[in-house]
Amino acid sequence: MKRYEIKYLLKEDVSSLIGTDVCVKGWVRTKRGNKNVAFIALNDGSIIHNIQVVADPSRFEETLKRVTTGACLCVEGKLVESQGSGQAVEVQAENIIVYGEADPESYPLQKKGHSMEFLREIGHLRLRTNTFGAVMRLRHNMAMAIHTFFHERGFFYFHTPLFSASDCEGAGEMVHVSTLDPENPPRGNDGKIDWEQDFFGKFTALTVSGQLEGELGATSLGKIYTFGPTFRAENSNTPRHLAEFWMIEPEMAFYQLDELTALEEEFIKYCVRWALDHCMDDLEFLNKMIDNGLIERLRSVIDTDFVRLPYTEGIKILEDAVAKGHKFEFPVSWGVDLASEHERYLVEQHFKKPVIMIDYPKEIKAFYMKQNDDCRTVQGTDVLFPQIGEIIGGSVREESYDKLVARMDELGMDRSGMEWYLDTRRFGSCPHAGFGLGFERLMLFVTGMANIRDVIPFPRTPKTAEF
Ligand code: 4AD
Ligand code: MG
Repeated sequence: MKRYEIKYLLKEDVSSLIGTDVCVKGWVRTKRGNKNVAFIALNDGSIIHNIQVVADPSRFEETLKRVTTGACLCVEGKLVESQGSGQAVEVQAENIIVYGEADPESYPLQKKGHSMEFLREIGHLRLRTNTFGAVMRLRHNMAMAIHTFFHERGFFYFHTPLFSASDCEGAGEMVHVSTLDPENPPRGNDGKIDWEQDFFGKFTALTVSGQLEGELGATSLGKIYTFGPTFRAENSNTPRHLAEFWMIEPEMAFYQLDELTALEEEFIKYCVRWALDHCMDDLEFLNKMIDNGLIERLRSVIDTDFVRLPYTEGIKILEDAVAKGHKFEFPVSWGVDLASEHERYLVEQHFKKPVIMIDYPKEIKAFYMKQNDDCRTVQGTDVLFPQIGEIIGGSVREESYDKLVARMDELGMDRSGMEWYLDTRRFGSCPHAGFGLGFERLMLFVTGMANIRDVIPFPRTPKTAEF
């Protein structure tokens, strides 16, 4: 008998199937009823909604004892128009096979709502909840939106390495990779560890960003994007930081600042519109259960022009707020790296819309950003979002070999091992720009979830690498 996915039976025109036998498979969400009739809500992950299976207890007495929340079933029966409200069709069971039982004494996902903290402890099972089903379907859809967006615009998907020796952001947050014996590493005469004997023959780590290699792609292919995992040993236990997160990094030859910010804005709006166009069932669920301003916020973002705000003006606004009595935990003055409370003040209270901040002090930004003529600021762009803070970090790149080298020296960076990068500026250097979108930050915005640990299947954070 042909098996149908539940999404198909609930979403497509199945009038020709009414009255015929179908097979559905999935996991039991709930079972209720009385001695005359049993209703089983079955979910197969294809859609947030369950299909209702109606079973006659006198026929399935023994089987129904094994049909408990979490059990996996194969049900064959007649597809009929539903008598009850809430669903158009249901299945009248003729045959029920229990593929796998779920002992009610020990299966942790019983009917009642569980806290996100508890669900994180059972990360291997939380995917079977409605909330995580919705989040993961949205996550897939955002990945498809991203690839489609860039493909439609002539960008090439470019694969940058995960093993890397260069600390792109210069923040010293790299996770070291080594196959040396940690108890007894080989040492040179000076007593220091001899990295030459390590697997790659030198000090290596997991990448914090694909940008530097992405620039090699853009300065030959024109427009590329990366989409892969990145790793940061950032010891920040916040609801917005992961040690392993996914980043999308487009890099474009010949783009200037205004073209860069225009792409950033168009890109985010495209993803949000995709969610509204393709994922309404899941969004409606999240809007009801997690954040009842979600759908309205998504709609408003696609209709809003993002503000372009020079850092210096942003600081003035924050200083004015302080003068008028607004209390921030961290002090504000020209030169400070904005804390998330500052970013959120600008976005949520002052402008009430997304802000693209530009022209940052060079001291708080990475070495590769294009230096402005004022010698104080660089053409960095951070896109700041309501609830999230920074969702994108990007910049125009410094294309002058001399200026770039001077900046690296100023920062005390070791240029050896970076010759390949500097060659982009030695041979056929070109103006170019790019940005990085934190995939999970986008997921936070699109799902309304409050904690970044809950928008990735298996979060990695300090002291946690379960599953
Ligand atoms: O601002 P970041 O550090 O910029 C870069 O890595 C550049 N190389 C990007 C580029 O220009 N190609 O990181 C980019 C984005 C941030 O805006 C944020 O959304 C996300 O990556 N991000 C994190 N997301 C989750 N957990 C973390 N620990 C993150 N660190 C950065
Ligand atoms: Mg940043």
